[in-house]
Amino acid sequence: TMSDPTPVTALLESWRARCESQLADRLKDRDPATARLHEGMRYSALGGGKRLRPILVYCTGTALGAPPERLDDAAVAVEMLHVYSLVHDDLPAMDDDDLRRGRPTCHKAFDEGTAVLVGDALQALAFEVLAGDSSSPLPAASRLQQIQVLSRAIGTDGMAGGQAIDLAAVGKVLDPRSLEDMHRRKTGALLRASVLLGAIGGGVTDGPRYEALWRYGTDLGLAFQIQDDVLDVLGETATLGKIAGADAARGKPTYPSILGLAESQRLARLHCDRAIESLASLG
Ligand code: IPE
Ligand code: IPE
Ligand code: MG
Ligand code: MG
Ligand code: MG
Repeated sequence: TMSDPTPVTALLESWRARCESQLADRLKDRDPATARLHEGMRYSALGGGKRLRPILVYCTGTALGAPPERLDDAAVAVEMLHVYSLVHDDLPAMDDDDLRRGRPTCHKAFDEGTAVLVGDALQALAFEVLAGDSSSPLPAASRLQQIQVLSRAIGTDGMAGGQAIDLAAVGKVLDPRSLEDMHRRKTGALLRASVLLGAIGGGVTDGPRYEALWRYGTDLGLAFQIQDDVLDVLGETATLGKIAGADAARGKPTYPSILGLAESQRLARLHCDRAIESLASLG
């Protein structure tokens, strides 16, 4: 809680560290013929990032009684998909950014072709991990449901669709409804999916508890991208690990550029509060 942040911080740090070692495990070098591609995957996936999506998987799943081993595959998969989205988002053809997680972006450290393939390969590996094998701790039906949830979250109704709306709107003015729709898709959908993967790992696959978590993830996801836009205005490059002010410099459609900073901060808080309210019914 806000009044006693230390145990929460320690909990988040322990899930972050677990995600880090799980990812390192699954990104071990394989074939010398593809060494550069693997180096790019490890460069982009390891040693940075808040790991918020895996943390949501672990927090949701363990709150429902799942042991962490049942959540590792989903935690790793969702972070791989997130990293893939960042590597492609930074490409010159998209946001054209040079700094990510405090280091040169993948296409700067390697090259554009490698960065495209790093995204492709991370996306494939995420679904390979989720599909599992005979030693998977989760039943096949749960893994299939996780694959359905995640694939929907990153397709045209989710991340890829949101990114398409984003690109089409560069240098134009979006109406507030389209702006909200874009944010729900490009970022909100994957954050909601992270919560739902944890729920499925914890044995909650439908019903009122699943629906409450669906609402929580939906509102949290929108709040998160609004706050990301706000931080592009208010944050500093050293803390963000990405260049501050990049959105305005590139004419990106954002909450602050369309609704103003104060209204953006109000809406981030509002959707955050709504998310928390959705959890009330869970006790
Ligand atoms: C950045 O996400 C991209 C968005 C979807 C807003 P994060 O703020 O979670 O980035 P990392 O993973 O901590 O680097
Ligand atoms: C991120 O939106 C959406 C993704 C799907 C990656 P942004 O373009 O605002 O993310 P940052 O600010 O580059 O991290
Ligand atoms: Mg972008
Ligand atoms: Mg970007
Ligand atoms: Mg941003």
